[in-house]
Amino acid sequence: MKRLIFVLCVLLVVFVVIWLVAYMHKSPMVPNNEYQASNRDAQIAIYDIDDLELEASEIIPQGGFDYIRGGAETEQTMMRNTSAFDDVDIVPRVLTGVVEPNISTSILGIDISLPVIAAPAAAHGLAHVSAEAGTAHGVAASGTIMSVSTYASSTLEEIARAGRGAPQWFQLYLSKDENINRAIIKKAEDLGYKAIILTVDAPVGGNRVADLRNDFKFPLELPNVPKKSIKTKGQGISKIFAASKNDLSPYDIMWVKSITKLPIVVKGIQHPDDAETAILAGADAVWVSNHGGRQLDGAPASFEMLPVIAERVNKRVPIIFDSGVRRGQHIFKAIASGADVVAIGRPVIYGLALGGWRGVVDVFDWLKKDLRRVMTLAGAQNIDDIKNIELRPKCMMVRCDKI
Ligand code: FNR
Ligand code: LAC
Repeated sequence: MKRLIFVLCVLLVVFVVIWLVAYMHKSPMVPNNEYQASNRDAQIAIYDIDDLELEASEIIPQGGFDYIRGGAETEQTMMRNTSAFDDVDIVPRVLTGVVEPNISTSILGIDISLPVIAAPAAAHGLAHVSAEAGTAHGVAASGTIMSVSTYASSTLEEIARAGRGAPQWFQLYLSKDENINRAIIKKAEDLGYKAIILTVDAPVGGNRVADLRNDFKFPLELPNVPKKSIKTKGQGISKIFAASKNDLSPYDIMWVKSITKLPIVVKGIQHPDDAETAILAGADAVWVSNHGGRQLDGAPASFEMLPVIAERVNKRVPIIFDSGVRRGQHIFKAIASGADVVAIGRPVIYGLALGGWRGVVDVFDWLKKDLRRVMTLAGAQNIDDIKNIELRPKCMMVRCDKI
């Protein structure tokens, strides 16, 4: 009897220790200096890209995961970003002889292996110890473009080095201090970044309720933000946004344009009039996006605004489209609706967390395979062909007698 009680006590202690370790790893309340990002470095089996979010939630500490996954407020706009693709159908064509579709394309003079680029995202170090350097390695190996955030957790130098000469764009959150802006744009030019993305949809942070509940503060430095602006480690995103220039206007596009020869991509456009304003102010490309639903909740899905913006842009400049793109049919529908290329945010970070740079490659490989299958079944031999394939709104989107 005594032996049984002893064994039960030992088992109880072991169970409590295991639970504690698991709780500490998941808990957003873990003191920041104990933040443990994933260090996995292996290929990942992807059956469906939607599986990655749940799998990533099991290895990224909760505070960091909720920041990455999270949308603003009720997350209606974030959820509609993906569900909006279901409101239109691809009308497939057969007897077309399509085989092994060519999915390569180019954007701003850069050839890419598929019409998908990596969107800028802050603090990849929340997901994996290799941070943006790991992402850069994976995106380069995938033959496409990496967009690098001002709020990256690797330096622009580290990311450029890890990209091994592959094309990278630098996404700029303008500082209130003009000299800081001049210096970081010059650094990006000198390091070989091929374009400046000016993000204009974040005058303040969206209402990130999960971050409020977690009292989430970045557990790592964002080294490209000068400390004299704000000390980023131990700070929340709203405070960091507040330290940047908030009152953006078309003059900011013109100013950036006046101090660099690099193409300017204006990111965060959700209205045709703003696309027009951006082009007239000198934008070399327009990036249609609602920031993955992380900014204004209650805004339309990004995909809902794409056709009317594309019509207004009228091919004067290229269009990059993001928010909610997860699979080949989404890429197809976005291109058929006027985008030249699409960008993905969260899936890249999940791939990084689950497998390091190899996980990033696996995400892009999965999208390549999925897009090829959709194009073959739809009857599109190459990216230009996609624009000849009919998209049809679901009956409920227009009165059925109209069809
Ligand atoms: C972002 N996004 C973003 N955009 C930007 O211009 N600069 C930035 O620093 C960031 N940071 C950032 C962090 C995280 C964790 C996410 C998820 C997103 C927005 C990003 O560029 C892109 O617009 C969306 O992520 C696209 O939506 P999906 O693909 O994530 O649904
Ligand atoms: C975000 C900022 C960094 O969406 O763009 O969190």
